[in-house]
Amino acid sequence: MIYALISDIHANLPALEAVLEDIGHRGVAATYHLGDLVGYAPWPDETVALIRGRGISGVAGNYDSTVGTDYKHCGCRYEDPRQEELSHISFNWTRQHVSTNTKEFLAGLPFRIDLLPNGGHLAGPRVILVHGTPTLNTLYWTEDRSDDFCLKMAGHAGARAGDVIVFGHTHIPWHRDVEGIHFVNTGSVGRPKDGNWRAGYVVLEIGSRAVRVENVRVEYDLERTILAIQDSELPDEFGEHLRTGGRTSVPR
Ligand SMILES: [Fe+2]
Repeated sequence: MIYALISDIHANLPALEAVLEDIGHRGVAATYHLGDLVGYAPWPDETVALIRGRGISGVAGNYDSTVGTDYKHCGCRYEDPRQEELSHISFNWTRQHVSTNTKEFLAGLPFRIDLLPNGGHLAGPRVILVHGTPTLNTLYWTEDRSDDFCLKMAGHAGARAGDVIVFGHTHIPWHRDVEGIHFVNTGSVGRPKDGNWRAGYVVLEIGSRAVRVENVRVEYDLERTILAIQDSELPDEFGEHLRTGGRTSVPR
């Protein structure tokens, strides 16, 4: 069984369009998103409409659940007062520009989705999709987290050897196997932070004996996104952030 897993699109419609085009050539059985459909770029309604139009199911990112529930901030991390200011500008802009329909859709997204590639009539393996971690969608699960942390999260999720937990939220892709459980961070479609501006996603293949994880990067019309950010009331810094693959100092 082959899945395409896309996360952290963050309203970057050209990046999403390019990724869906690429996925179309890969013969996947299904595509799922891991949340953070909106925030930071000027196409929140259009991004949600495209995801819904393609019938792509997925989970609620922190941006989706905080916009959907009128929370006081997006639950994003910032490291200095300017980042905090930018974070609030983006969150308020997004809240003001999503339609009622989009907001209701975001509020209704599930926290977690389980896939059983061999069918629910068999015991395993299980692929568990969440945005941040199995406990909170705001918690950052970075590659430098200890094996103990990963196993603790696996325990929360009820994952066993042979299972796969897939998540995003940090915008930096990584994959490791701890005691037979695979931990896969998909990186970000619309706002990568690993120094590579190209849209990122994962192709996950669950075979009878092995799990294969492919990190894919796709070029997209970056200038279209940067110009649209400049034409909106969103901070121009967000465009520069995209150009550098997240190597400028703005909120996560
Ligand atoms: Fe995100």
